[in-house]
Amino acid sequence: MDEHRIETERLTLRPPQPEDAAEVQRLAGDFRIADVTSSIPHPYPPELAQQWIERCAQDWASGTAANFIIIESASGKLVGSMALKDIGRGEAEVGYWIGVPYWSRGYASEACNALVDFAFQQLRLRRLHASHLARNPQSGRVLFKAGFRHLGLGHSQCGCQGKLEPVELYERVSGE
Ligand SMILES: CC(C)(COP(=O)(O)OP(=O)(O)OC[C@H]1O[C@@H](n2cnc3c(N)ncnc32)[C@H](O)[C@@H]1OP(=O)(O)O)[C@@H](O)C(=O)NCCC(=O)NCCS
Repeated sequence: MDEHRIETERLTLRPPQPEDAAEVQRLAGDFRIADVTSSIPHPYPPELAQQWIERCAQDWASGTAANFIIIESASGKLVGSMALKDIGRGEAEVGYWIGVPYWSRGYASEACNALVDFAFQQLRLRRLHASHLARNPQSGRVLFKAGFRHLGLGHSQCGCQGKLEPVELYERVSGE
C-alpha cells in the first residue's frame, strides 16, 4: 500500500516517522493519556515511542493497521495520534489520543471524521468499532460527532492501571 496521508481544514494526518519519537513520548507520557487508553503504559518507557513507530510501518505494510500522527498544519506541531487498528474482515477499531496542551480545540473530532472517510473510501472497510471508559465521556463526544452509534455498556481492562472498568461501545457502518 502507498503512504497514507489525510488533510483536513486544520490538520495533517500522516504516518509516524522516527523523528516523532521524542514528542510522542512527551505527550503520550502524560498520565491523563495513559489513564484512559488501552496500550499506553505509565511511566512511558524511553524506547517505546521508537518501537511503536517501527511497528506502525510494519503494520501498515501488512495491512493490519493504519496509524497516523496528527500535525497542526499551521504550526507543524505534533498534537496527537489516531489509528485504525486490528484491520481485518472489512472491520477495524478506532483509537486516538490528543496531547493535553491541545485538548478542547476540536482536533480529535476533526481528525476522527476524516479517518472515518479514509477507512470507508480508501480502505473500503465496512464497519468501524470503538470504545471508551465510561469515566471518559469526551471520547464519546468525538465518536458521536463522527457518526458512531452507541451500542451499549461493556467492561474492559482499558486504562494503564489494568482495572476492570465499565466501557461504552460504539460502531459505525459504511453507508449509514
Ligand atoms: C478524548 C480526547 C481525544 C478528546 O480530544 P479533543 O481534541 O480535546 O476533543 P475535541 O476538542 O474534538 O472535543 C470533543 C469533545 O470533548 C469535550 N472535551 C474536550 N476536552 C475536555 C475536557 N478536558 N473536559 C471535558 N470535556 C472535554 C469537548 O467539549 C467536546 O465535546 P462537545 O462537542 O460536546 O463540546 C482527548 O481528551 C484525549 O486524548 N484524552 C485522553 C486519551 C483518550 O481519551 N483517548 C481515547 C480513548 S477511548
